[in-house]
Amino acid sequence: MSEPITAHWHAPSNIAIVKYWGKFHNQIPANPSISFTLTLSYTDTKVTLTEAKEQLPTADVFYEGVEKPDFLPKVLKFLDHAMAFYPWLARKHLKIETRNTFPHSSGIASSASAIAALACCIEDIHSLLTFTPFDRQRVSHMARLGSGSACRSIYGGFVQWGSTADGAGSDHFAIPVEQVHTAFLDVKDYILILHSGKKTVSSSAGHGLMKDHSYAEPRFQQAKQRALALRDILTSGDWEMFIRLMESEALTLHAMMMTSDPPYILMKPNTLAVIEKLWQFRSDTGYQIGFTLDAGANLHLIFPASLTHIVERDFLPEIQYLCEQNRIIRDCIGDGPRKITEG
Ligand code: PMV
Repeated sequence: MSEPITAHWHAPSNIAIVKYWGKFHNQIPANPSISFTLTLSYTDTKVTLTEAKEQLPTADVFYEGVEKPDFLPKVLKFLDHAMAFYPWLARKHLKIETRNTFPHSSGIASSASAIAALACCIEDIHSLLTFTPFDRQRVSHMARLGSGSACRSIYGGFVQWGSTADGAGSDHFAIPVEQVHTAFLDVKDYILILHSGKKTVSSSAGHGLMKDHSYAEPRFQQAKQRALALRDILTSGDWEMFIRLMESEALTLHAMMMTSDPPYILMKPNTLAVIEKLWQFRSDTGYQIGFTLDAGANLHLIFPASLTHIVERDFLPEIQYLCEQNRIIRDCIGDGPRKITEG
């Protein structure tokens, strides 16, 4: 290999309905999780591979054209893991040019899309070098080692990571959920930006606090049951049950944070204000519009596309003033990563 080789991919973020919270060594999840992959919130990454002298892979990272040495430790650690799958990374240099379509700290997991996009680029180069087909399962497996939730972003639609009692899924990589009722094929995720400041406790620290958590074991058991229950709901098309499970998952995630030692709270007053308004709206109108939360203050409004006009006309005017600069990211379920061909 003397000429540089390039790969260019878009990989979306995802939002979990059953949450992954707590992990064991090597990013093995303490419980299974199920998410859906987004469309508009993605990372765009181009990798240019050249020869290098060092035994271990080296890299430069540019975010929106600006060199970011502070991103390097995470990237190099990830490349170190990736060498187990791609030994050819030895004596290679990667120029990584990346950007997100969504702002930082916007309640969207940027590590999921960033690691997923980088993993897709590396697998793409692998398939070029070895004349073998692009292997999504290997990409998902590798992405998990960089960021747990990234392994779900390798597929579109609803995606499960972690094994369930019925023998489905794997702790090592994600799999697409195949049986999804048409009622869930056009899910919307409107992300309400209620607080864009940096989180006081990172997700890695939060996972760590589940280790000696008083409620860890019952929580892991609950999530295991809920992953099975959610798959049934997705098959049946029952939006009411979907919302009940999804909202309890979001609040349970935050309850785990509030009952950690030390405790912490990532919700903000406006998060609660929107939840109360949403519950009132739902009880007044009966429309199946629900919410979920990631490990942050911003709220994801989840509903079927058929209710878009109701949300836009009747609900958003009630709450948009609570969003920072009225910011809402109007996203929806999507197809997963996409290779970008230049020119
Ligand atoms: O993948 P991580 O380590 O950023 O953890 C993600 C945790 C949650 O977003 C809160 C839940 C999930 O399953 O995505």
